[in-house]
Amino acid sequence: MNEIERIYQLREELHRHNHNYYVLNAPEIGDQEFDFLMRELQDLEAKHPECQDENSPTMRVGSDLNKNFQQVAHQYPMLSLANTYSEAEVTEFYDRIKKDLNEDFEVCCEMKFDGTSISLIYEEGKLVRAVTRGDGVKGDDVTDNVKTIRTIPLVLQGEGFPKKFEIRGEILMPWEVFEQLNKERESRGEALFANPRNAASGTLKLQNSSVVASRKLDAYLYSILGESLPCDGHYENLQMASSWGFKVSELMRKCANLSDILDFLRYWDVARKSLPVATDGVVLKVNSLRQQRNLGYTAKSPRWAIAYKFQAERACTRLNKVTYQVGRTGAITPVANLDPVQLAGTVVKRASLHNADVIEGLDLYVGDMVYVEKGGEIIPKIVGVDKDARFMIGDKVKFISHCPECGSPLVRYEGEAAHYCVNDVACPPQIKGKIEHYVSRKAMNIDSLGTETIDQFYREGLIHTIADLYTLKAPEIARLERMGKKSALNILEGIRASKEVPFERVLFALGIRFVGETTAKTLAKAFRSIDALKKATLDELVQVDEIGARIAQSILVYFANEENLHIIEQLREAGVQMQMEDVDMSQYTDKLAGKSIVISGVFAHHSRDEYKEIIEKNGGKNVGSISKKTSFILAGENMGPSKLEKAGKLGIPIVGEDDFLKMIE
Ligand code: IVH
Repeated sequence: MNEIERIYQLREELHRHNHNYYVLNAPEIGDQEFDFLMRELQDLEAKHPECQDENSPTMRVGSDLNKNFQQVAHQYPMLSLANTYSEAEVTEFYDRIKKDLNEDFEVCCEMKFDGTSISLIYEEGKLVRAVTRGDGVKGDDVTDNVKTIRTIPLVLQGEGFPKKFEIRGEILMPWEVFEQLNKERESRGEALFANPRNAASGTLKLQNSSVVASRKLDAYLYSILGESLPCDGHYENLQMASSWGFKVSELMRKCANLSDILDFLRYWDVARKSLPVATDGVVLKVNSLRQQRNLGYTAKSPRWAIAYKFQAERACTRLNKVTYQVGRTGAITPVANLDPVQLAGTVVKRASLHNADVIEGLDLYVGDMVYVEKGGEIIPKIVGVDKDARFMIGDKVKFISHCPECGSPLVRYEGEAAHYCVNDVACPPQIKGKIEHYVSRKAMNIDSLGTETIDQFYREGLIHTIADLYTLKAPEIARLERMGKKSALNILEGIRASKEVPFERVLFALGIRFVGETTAKTLAKAFRSIDALKKATLDELVQVDEIGARIAQSILVYFANEENLHIIEQLREAGVQMQMEDVDMSQYTDKLAGKSIVISGVFAHHSRDEYKEIIEKNGGKNVGSISKKTSFILAGENMGPSKLEKAGKLGIPIVGEDDFLKMIE
């Protein structure tokens, strides 16, 4: 892969991780890994200015915008901080400031709290609004939820506060509260939060503020903004804020030289482990606001501050054995079973070993003392072995050759890291996994069937394939343990309703390898029926936009399997949709034929997705970023300033929502 290809690959990956982190609250990778990918992308983009893209993940600070809240523009954009993991780069930062300022200066060192940031607006001493960071330019109004946080003053005390000002900080869930919450969630069978940061941001976005109140969030404030602040010092202003009733960290220090700064970093790298809340680094800020103004900002972050991030926490414990899990697709995941150990706030007993190469790379023996680290995910990973501690160890860990569930020989496809059990018709977890996927919400949405019921039906021999769902009878369900007539009828009703699910989702529900939700949609649009798709050749498949050789190959393999063809016929007979519905052509026009349209801002009459559909139905193309080729911008309220500027520069017309609707009337 050359550097340009790598840029595109990194952008795609980082966009996905951004979405996982900010929107879904379910990161797949740890912060450090994310930062490293981002850094790699920044470096490559700097080397290849010809690849500049205003929508690159390096151009923004991420977004936690949520449809259900009112969006509000920030008076001052909420930027992020440049970050580093090395003392050498902290030294570089210090030397650069020294050179640029060319006068004495102090640096305020403070903890980097690992929660979710918040902007609070006070007027006449009263909290009037609380807004999340959002995409940095606008955020969600979460005032009602924030008002439930007891450490945030609703009315200020003391004197000397400006008439109107903004104060920013971090909302946190203390470790103790986090552990208790996860314990409760576990006992109710609910998904666990990966870390207190996700728990805090998830809580802040709840619709019901009384639930927020019960979650005992906390907040530290770390920056104050406004026209007439009491002092020139950042530190001094925060001390004032503390006297007005805000919770300001007591762990802030002003340092007049580099060696004091480095001492602070080294001390808190260790001492932070006994703090009641999660921290992931130290923030260094030039203390004088006048000097801050002189140093200024880059597009993304202030030049007067930097975040020094701690290395992820690690624990050392014994490896007792390695077990193997078989997933829905037959992928085998090796799992390390460990002596329980305390790590970054929770007790860890199991860790992922990912695949055979990772095990080989670690040169692992049963009984080894291993290092465990937590990334962003719930399941921690093994990152190393303490070879010096090897003493009377057991056997070398050797990846299995046969499926632990069905005994079939495992296969490893070229270019893939995972081993697979390919016995998809008879391997129990694969069969059950396929059925679980089939009924899942984004597939056939049969919500009357949960994992446990599927397991029970399978054990009792009622179902072996997804097609068997449609031959289930009420009496055979009703006689099962914990079932009754009512639940049987409910289940059957859910199954019946699935016959109305449109073909594109049926195609996704079939669980063809590499055919996710979006690919299924693309295929359904292109081929319109299962019969046409079944007949498609490799060439015809790769002709379709966004379908590459890997997906095409997997589709051919799927339809070459007699068992799959049989299941499809059974589903068809049961009445499941095997083709797209005839479309009502009266909604289609060519009024926007040949037009490339960018959608930007917030709309009153339709959602963004609806506008996308309207554009497509009228023959236009919705594109993501503004270029010379853009025909016009469909703009709602609060269009982003950078888009506005670019449109102006390139002379691209801006069309308001009402005018647009008239245009296609
Ligand atoms: S100052 C212009 N101080 O870290 C930057 N941020 O990457 C203003 N954070 O979004 C931020 N503790 O959520 C600042 N003591 C601290 C912080 C802190 C945590 C978070 C904050 C911000 C992110 C920056």
